[in-house]
Amino acid sequence: VEQSYVMIKPDGVQRGLVGEIITRFEKKGFVLKGLKLFQCPQELAEEHYKDLKSKSFFPKLIEYITSGPVVCMAWEGVGVVLAARKLIGSTNPLQAEPGTIRGDLAVQTGRNVIHGSDSPDNGQREIGLWFNEVELCQWIPAQRPWLYE
Ligand code: GTP
Ligand code: MG
Repeated sequence: VEQSYVMIKPDGVQRGLVGEIITRFEKKGFVLKGLKLFQCPQELAEEHYKDLKSKSFFPKLIEYITSGPVVCMAWEGVGVVLAARKLIGSTNPLQAEPGTIRGDLAVQTGRNVIHGSDSPDNGQREIGLWFNEVELCQWIPAQRPWLYE
């Protein structure tokens, strides 16, 4: 089944948005396979965002992501990668639709509260990067027959 790496960034933690954000994914019907509060080291932030290394904002991005604890999550479900991106909204929160996490809860691109994997392959890559095997739980949620026909 498809998995997405979703991360509440330090601004989301500092602003007390953790519960609200987790609730949106739970209510949608995705399954939580991993969850932790974590102070991200510099090297991991750089590895996670390595595709953006050449961007002028890269140093600021790394400073932002390592500026306080993040909440790391692995979410599973049919179509979760694209659905999570839709729940999250556009990169620039001022362009994100109302009803999305960024559209409702953020203002600036450099403080956009949350990350979501942009492809199923990157979902696997990022979950492998941020979690140890033992931190991921295999379990069958009781609501499954009521979510999938
Ligand atoms: P993520 O889910 O975090 O990967 O965001 P995204 O996929 O919507 O955007 P992208 O991967 O292109 O950029 C990753 C992150 O870099 C963004 O979420 C922002 O936090 C940051 N970022 C992107 N563009 C800018 C920019 O122009 N200025 C600043 N300060 N940060 C940026
Ligand atoms: Mg991205």
